[in-house]
Amino acid sequence: MHEETRVGLAEKSSVVVGGTSGLGLVIARRLAELGSPVAIIGRDRKKGEAAAAVLGNDALFIESDIGDHRCVDAAFDELARRFQSLHFAVNCAGVTGGHAPIRRMDTNDWDRLMKVNCSGVFYCLRREIEMIRRTPGGAIVNVSSCAGALAIPNQAAYVSSKAALNLLTQVAAIENAVDHDDGFSVRVNAVAPGPILGGMNTPERLAADPDNTRRKIDVTAMKRFARPEEVAASVLYLLGPGATYVTGAILDVDGGYRAGKF
Ligand SMILES: NC(=O)c1ccc[n+]([C@@H]2O[C@H](COP(=O)([O-])OP(=O)(O)OC[C@H]3O[C@@H](n4cnc5c(N)ncnc54)[C@H](OP(=O)(O)O)[C@@H]3O)[C@@H](O)[C@H]2O)c1
Repeated sequence: MHEETRVGLAEKSSVVVGGTSGLGLVIARRLAELGSPVAIIGRDRKKGEAAAAVLGNDALFIESDIGDHRCVDAAFDELARRFQSLHFAVNCAGVTGGHAPIRRMDTNDWDRLMKVNCSGVFYCLRREIEMIRRTPGGAIVNVSSCAGALAIPNQAAYVSSKAALNLLTQVAAIENAVDHDDGFSVRVNAVAPGPILGGMNTPERLAADPDNTRRKIDVTAMKRFARPEEVAASVLYLLGPGATYVTGAILDVDGGYRAGKF
C-alpha cells in the first residue's frame, strides 16, 4: 500500500454496504487493515457477524435489506448512533441473475435487480452524503460493472441497473463537488469491474457453466478474471489522498473488457 493512502485513510471511519462477502468483504478488510473503523451492511445476520469477526478491530455489522428504504434508514440511524462521524462509503451490494431475452424476462427478476442495484444504492447514497459532508475530505465509491456500458444480450436488467448507477454516481458527484455553507464537498466515483473471481463467481458456478466462463475470459483483453484485491486497490485509490481531484469518474477495472474485442 502506498504510504500516502495509508496516512490518508487511517482513523477515518468507513461503511461498506455489501461488505459481508465477496468483493465487499475484501474492500472492508483493506480498510480495516489501514486502521479505519469499519461498518459492514448486508441482509444475512449469520454471514455478517462472521465477516465482522474476521475483520476484527471492533468492526460493526448492521443487518439491512437495501431494497427497502425503511430498512436502509434504520441501518443508517444505527450507524449514526455508533459512529461519531463517517468519512468514507463503498456501495458494493449488488445482485445478478434472471438472465433471459427481454421478451421472456420475468417481472420479478427485473424488479429485484433494479431495486437492489439502483434504488438500493440511491437509498444508501442520500444517507451517506448527509453524514459524510459534515467533515472535510470525505469520499464515496459505488461498485458498478463494465456491463453498465455494454448492451449484453439476456442481461437487460443487470446492465440497465448498472448504467443507471453510473449516472446516479455522476449526479451525486456534481451536486457535492464544492463546499457549501452547511457542508463540505464529497467526492463520488464508481469502479466498473469486469469478471472477478469469488463473490458471484464461485468456483461451483464457474464450473457449472464452462462455456460462459470461457467466453468471459475470451472477451477480456487480459484473458483472465480479476482477483478481488485488484479491484479493491482501485476502490482504495479513489477513496484516498491520491484521488483528491477525481470526482464523477467511472473507472474501468476490467482487464480491457470494455475497451475492445479485437
Ligand atoms: N463478481 C463479479 O464478477 C462482478 C463483476 C462486476 C461487478 N460486480 C459487482 O460487484 C459487487 C459485489 O459482487 P460480488 O461478486 O462480491 O457479490 P457477492 O459475493 O454476492 O456479494 C454481494 C454483497 O451484497 C450484499 N447484498 C446483496 N443484496 C443485498 C440487499 N438487498 N441488501 C443488502 N445487502 C445485499 C450481500 O450480503 P447478503 O447476501 O447478506 O445480503 C453481499 O455482502 C456487486 O455490486 C456486483 O454487481 C461483480
